[in-house]
Amino acid sequence: MSRAPRSRVDLLEEITPDVTRLYERHLESPRDWYPHEQIEWGEARDFAEYPWSPSDYPVGEGVRSSIYVNLLTEDNLPYYTDAILRHAPTDHPFRDWTYQWTMEEARHSMVMRDWVHVSRCLDPTALEDGRRVQMAKGEAPRPATFADLIVYVALQERATQIAHRNTGAKLPKDDKMGRTVLGLIAGDETKHYLFYRDLTRAAFTIDPSTLMIALTRQVSTFAMPGTGIPSFTRHAVRIAREGIYGLGQFLSDVLTPVLGLWDVEHVEGLSREAEAAREELVSVRAHLSAAVERMADRAAQLAARTAPAH
Ligand SMILES: [Fe+2]
Ligand SMILES: [Fe+2]
Repeated sequence: MSRAPRSRVDLLEEITPDVTRLYERHLESPRDWYPHEQIEWGEARDFAEYPWSPSDYPVGEGVRSSIYVNLLTEDNLPYYTDAILRHAPTDHPFRDWTYQWTMEEARHSMVMRDWVHVSRCLDPTALEDGRRVQMAKGEAPRPATFADLIVYVALQERATQIAHRNTGAKLPKDDKMGRTVLGLIAGDETKHYLFYRDLTRAAFTIDPSTLMIALTRQVSTFAMPGTGIPSFTRHAVRIAREGIYGLGQFLSDVLTPVLGLWDVEHVEGLSREAEAAREELVSVRAHLSAAVERMADRAAQLAARTAPAH
């Protein structure tokens, strides 16, 4: 028998004990690292005396694009907090969790920018121009319901963790500071992902139909929160080409594990509309897989055509 559809207020109310439980679990393993301790300050050089040049930090354009996009994405934090607080009533533990989350997220842009300036991996003027353009727009994903929000943030935290981890792996071998910084950030994102992943799992047991419909909607429209960044598409293409983050990673490292953990195939008690949403989700996933395969085939053909003849 399917359950009656519930309103957003009901889900928020019923999920309160799970928010408290997961927030307490989060606090039990604190990660109180200090941004200033990660930076080799003695390596810094004055930009007025030594103007920036790409040769200061030789690295592929996809890696440089990824550092730029990831940092500007972290800079945009005030608008993500705003989007989340719209679904966090006063006196609800979800509000306390969001304050904690914001406190942890804020150190990501701090430490990244310190590393970027000391290592000279990005043009500091272009970076600040990008920050000014993006932040003046106040652009951020604003999911309409609490269910849509928690699904989106779970996917996005996982995607961000993968993007930071894969960027760290592509840094020049001698940049230990960069690897440490990106590793610490990826570790925070992992903990945020675990909170939202398990909160969504709990929400599925409270109101499976609402969650299934929200999940299909979010997967169908999923985009990383960087669309306000100047030349975002150009950077996104470079980042995907570098193998750091793109449709392939979204499918294999984000969607597949998350849908498996939520056991989407076996969710019971769905309304007719939610059952239709689950079927649509299967076809969206199949389309994504086909697109990833087509891209891989095209890349293989291109590699074969451009390979030196023996
Ligand atoms: Fe972050
Ligand atoms: Fe995050």
